[in-house]
Amino acid sequence: MNELILGIETSCDDTAAAVVDAGGRILSSVVASQLEIHEAFGGIYPEFAARAHVATILPTVHEALGRAAVSPADLLAIAVTRGPGLVGSLLVGLNTAAALGAGWGKPVIGVNHLRGHLRSADLEERRVKYPATVLLVSGGHTLLAYMKDAAGIELLGSTRDDSVGESYDKVGRMLGTGYPGGPAVDRMAAGGRACIPFPRPMIDKGCDFSFSGLKAAVARHVEAAGEGTREDIAASFVQAVMDVLIKKSRLVLGRYPSASFVIVGGVAASPRLREEAARLCEETGVELCLPPTRWSTDNAAMIALAAFDYARLGILPPPVAELQLTIRDF
Ligand code: KG4
Ligand code: ZN
Repeated sequence: MNELILGIETSCDDTAAAVVDAGGRILSSVVASQLEIHEAFGGIYPEFAARAHVATILPTVHEALGRAAVSPADLLAIAVTRGPGLVGSLLVGLNTAAALGAGWGKPVIGVNHLRGHLRSADLEERRVKYPATVLLVSGGHTLLAYMKDAAGIELLGSTRDDSVGESYDKVGRMLGTGYPGGPAVDRMAAGGRACIPFPRPMIDKGCDFSFSGLKAAVARHVEAAGEGTREDIAASFVQAVMDVLIKKSRLVLGRYPSASFVIVGGVAASPRLREEAARLCEETGVELCLPPTRWSTDNAAMIALAAFDYARLGILPPPVAELQLTIRDF
């Protein structure tokens, strides 16, 4: 029997469980979305997220084991997201994993959520050519990393304030789209002209990002009923985001020899970002690597795959109970 790990992910608003083998093959991946609960609030309501995880975590785990047709005895270990994320949500996954581990007699491996995202492009098949430059753009995080191999992660820069996805969602709210705003803002932008000169915060300042100033500029423009249609505002915002993401990615690709440029996280679904990245890769001669969207958003398969890295590459996994981690604790 292949070595199998059960992954559990509850860092934000999706309850997820998956069974993955050492090659990244996915035997099952179940994601219970809480979108309907949070939609009414226009964003994630942390207390409701934690309660929903409590209600769905065990059925989700059982469904993942059932779909994979494996029993707990077949597992090598349980991998669980230990952070970063919403503390109440994380605790549900961590306590469930600890209880199942004790009951089944299986080790529990705590995985950094961002390591999971960074490795998600290799789920199902090996797509990433190393060394790789990776841009992670999700609802919770924005960062650029250099990976000399699957385990060797060097964090080059991250956001000082808001993430790209969060900014899309807030701009969506200003423009009257539902939650999440990202896909709607992207679609709206396609029908507008990028004619409003919104700022490109920190565009010339290395690999760190900042998006709060851009978000505030859009808010001021909307409040003041400034020039342009809603479509023009969306297009101008998206253009500002793209200019920042592409300029910083170009900087890294110029400095760090890369066989591939990987984009992961929910915003990787953006057709605009995909187009701009394809152009950048053509220009730099680096292969573009975009995993299927279902592996780019939160899932437990990426957590299980990252746990294999800890074991295979001899990285000492951080203690499961350690919640006080920073994004540097890969
Ligand atoms: O990775 P993800 O599912 O959540 C976190 O792990 O945080 O990313 C969700 C984010 C949301 O902010 C959503 O608005 C954004 O990804 N998103 C998009 C698009 N599709 C999803 N942003 C821009 N364009 C899209 N097409
Ligand atoms: Zn995530």
